Amino acid sequence: MPRNQPWWRNAIIYQIYVRSFRDSNGDGTGDLAGICEKLDYLQWLGVDGLWLSPTMPSPNADWGYDVSDYYGVHPDYGALADMDRLVVEAAQRDIGIMLDLVPNHTSSAHPWFVDARSGRGSAHRDYYVWAGPKAAGGPPNNWICATGAPAWTLDAESDQYYLHNFLPAQPDLNWWDERVHEEFHEILRFWFDRGVAGFRIDVAHGLYKDSLLQDDPPAGPGDHPAIQRGKLRPVYSSHRPEVHDVYRRWRQIADTYEQGPALLGETWEFDYQRFGDYYGREEPELHMGFNFGFVEAGLTAPELADVVEKTLAALPAGAMPVWTGSNHDVGRFPTRWCGNDPRAVKAALAVLSTLPGTVVLYYGDELGMADVDVPPALRLDDMSAGKPYGRDACRTPMLWSAGTNAGFTTPSARPWLPLGGTATNVEDERADPGSVLNLWRALAALRQAGRIGRLDKLEQVLLDEQVWAYRVGEVTTVANLSDQAVTRPLTGHEHLSVLVSTAALAPSGAAVGAELSLGPWETVVLAAQP
Ligand code: NOJ
Repeated sequence: MPRNQPWWRNAIIYQIYVRSFRDSNGDGTGDLAGICEKLDYLQWLGVDGLWLSPTMPSPNADWGYDVSDYYGVHPDYGALADMDRLVVEAAQRDIGIMLDLVPNHTSSAHPWFVDARSGRGSAHRDYYVWAGPKAAGGPPNNWICATGAPAWTLDAESDQYYLHNFLPAQPDLNWWDERVHEEFHEILRFWFDRGVAGFRIDVAHGLYKDSLLQDDPPAGPGDHPAIQRGKLRPVYSSHRPEVHDVYRRWRQIADTYEQGPALLGETWEFDYQRFGDYYGREEPELHMGFNFGFVEAGLTAPELADVVEKTLAALPAGAMPVWTGSNHDVGRFPTRWCGNDPRAVKAALAVLSTLPGTVVLYYGDELGMADVDVPPALRLDDMSAGKPYGRDACRTPMLWSAGTNAGFTTPSARPWLPLGGTATNVEDERADPGSVLNLWRALAALRQAGRIGRLDKLEQVLLDEQVWAYRVGEVTTVANLSDQAVTRPLTGHEHLSVLVSTAALAPSGAAVGAELSLGPWETVVLAAQP
């Protein structure tokens, strides 16, 4: 029996970058059969759902985020039958499979775009956003795409530009055309009918564009750098209010399915009220949204406490917050937040898993797996070329063992991206009681028992520059988010005992008194003594 009803509430979701998880056929590329091989491990980790990075056919200009067929499986990963098998075998372990859905844009190789490009009068022309040059010549407006270049490419044949908020090989769909809605309703039903447990929705804030194609205004000091385009505030090129109608309709479709599929949006929104709007105010919209304010905050007590307070205040009643620190774009939190210090990684995992809501781990987070310094000649991500952070660093193969190719693929194969150092790996960490992995297991067991992660009110117990303590339900977490030892009074919270400590300093079950001393980065999860 799934432990949560519906499955995604207070869940543990695990993101798999399919190409890098486990290669079952020795071609150097991860695949769906490889994920099937690892389902027992994933069950042991306590996960309720997997979010698979894009699995659909794609020319891989943006590694799957340029879809050429929404109804298939990329041949590198297997066939539709492999996906069906994965859905069934995962369900046998109460694990739901979420796919990555890319509705903002298609590949330029998608038959819709191939037809659209064939001429102004083509049947699919209006599936995309086209506009003529400005009177003085040049692109229709000042919109900037993700690489920093203009978001428009001229189609010389028809003397019109098409819009691409990402690479030129990723033309943006035109959501003002009702036929685009109908196409995606059919795509949702196709996968839900196959038992898929939900979708992570790519660029969820971006589908609609201003119908007048007005220039984006200059960004101001209040605009978070992570959502600026060039030095512009993308209020016309994305973040349009009309997008909420899309999710009201998708939610109605999702809610008719017995497996209770979840819609989890990639919602880049730093205004918390507007972030909360994606869950739906009057009518339900997305079941959950990624909270990039949290991802982009530092691993410090004041920063995290601030984001959490604002997030919880802005979400509609009963809405499920999502806590995550890593993904295939922003990098791995063990490196970004923790400087690869396992003590800090353990503290971060303890915080992520004790906050009220659903937690999303990126493959390898449970080990403290680090970003990899991929040599320039081996980098494959065009989108991040020339940027301060190259996304290949966080997409390298999973480290299963210390052996050749780390158990990701056969020893003689050439992995599609180079591996990181194999000192961190599943096999060794399983055998080490003090490992990050075994700390994660202890936390996951508490979540499975319903003791942490519950959607109860969060009460702040203590907050200063180093320490953040909060109580959710019957459980108090005290996190030392610093590399110094600390001692703090726990007035009013005496008579608690330790459920889990990230360091062995306070053994599990030990009672704490009116004062608590914690080592560097030590974080404890406390509950009333039985
Ligand atoms: C967000 C995805 O996570 C990222 O990897 C991709 O490049 C863009 N959206 C465009 O689809």
